[in-house]
Amino acid sequence: MIIVKKIKDWKSLRVSNSLKNKTLGFVPTMGALHRGHIELVKKSLSQNDITVVSIFVNPTQFNNKADLRNYPVTINSDIKILDELNVNYLFLPEYKELYPDDYKYKITETDFSKLLCGRFRPGHFDGVLTVVMKLFNIIKPDRAYFGEKDYQQLELIRGMVKNFFMDIKIISVPTVRDKDGLALSSRNLRLNAIQRKIAPKFPEILMSDLSIEQIKSRLVSEGFKVEYVEQIGDRRFAAVYLGKVRLIDNVKI
Ligand code: PAJ
Repeated sequence: MIIVKKIKDWKSLRVSNSLKNKTLGFVPTMGALHRGHIELVKKSLSQNDITVVSIFVNPTQFNNKADLRNYPVTINSDIKILDELNVNYLFLPEYKELYPDDYKYKITETDFSKLLCGRFRPGHFDGVLTVVMKLFNIIKPDRAYFGEKDYQQLELIRGMVKNFFMDIKIISVPTVRDKDGLALSSRNLRLNAIQRKIAPKFPEILMSDLSIEQIKSRLVSEGFKVEYVEQIGDRRFAAVYLGKVRLIDNVKI
C-alpha cells in the first residue's frame, strides 16, 4: 500500500499510467478502523480496480472540542489492517493541506442537515459535506462508499453529489454490528466495561415495537441519557449518551 500525504503527489499519481483506464473506489474515514470500515473497504475492493482509503480526523465536523481531543487514533494498526486487505493507496493529509483557507469556504445544506444529529451538533454536517467535497475533488473516484450507520450523513452526501452534478456513484453498506447487536463505532473504544455491557440495550430497545415515548423512557431506565429518538418515514433514528460517550443508531421499521 502506498501512503500519500500531499495533494500534489496524489494529483500526479491520479493522471499517471498506473491509474489510467482503471476504476477507482474511495472510502473516506476518520480512522480507528473496525469491521464496519472494513466492510466498506471490501466492497470497494470487489467493485473497482483500485481502492483508495483516506484517514483524516476532520476538526470542522466536531462541534465539541473535547470530543475531537478524545477521538481515538490508532494509525499504526489502521495502516496494518489496510495493507493486509490489499488497499492500493492510503491518503493521509494534514489539516493545512485540506484547509488552506482555514475553513472560510464551506458547503451547507439548509434543510435535512438541521434535523436529527444536526439539531444537536450545530455545524457538524457543514464540516462533513465540506471535507467530503474536498476529498472527492482531490481523489476523483468513480465510486465512494458510506455506511448506513450514519444514515443522515449518507443521505446528505447523496444529495450533495446529485445537486452539484458530481460524477460519483455513492454506494451504501448496511450497518455492521457486534454479536450483541451494538453497531460498531470508533467511539465504542471509549466505553468502559460496565458501559459496554449496557450499550447493546440501545439497539435492542430501538428495534422493539414500543412507541417513541416508551423507547425514550426504557432507554432512560437502562441508564442512557437520551438526546433524541425520532421516526422519519420507515426509519427510526436515535442518539444517546452513556457517560460522556455519544452513540447513534438507526433502524428500518
Ligand atoms: P467514520 O466515522 O470513520 O466512518 C467512515 C465510514 O464508515 C462512514 O461511511 C461510516 O458510515 C462507516 N461506518 C462506521 N461504522 C460503521 C458500521 N458499524 N457499519 C457500517 N459502516 C460503518 O463518517 C465519518 O468517518 C466521517 O464523517 C467522514 C465521512 C470520513 C468525513 O469526515
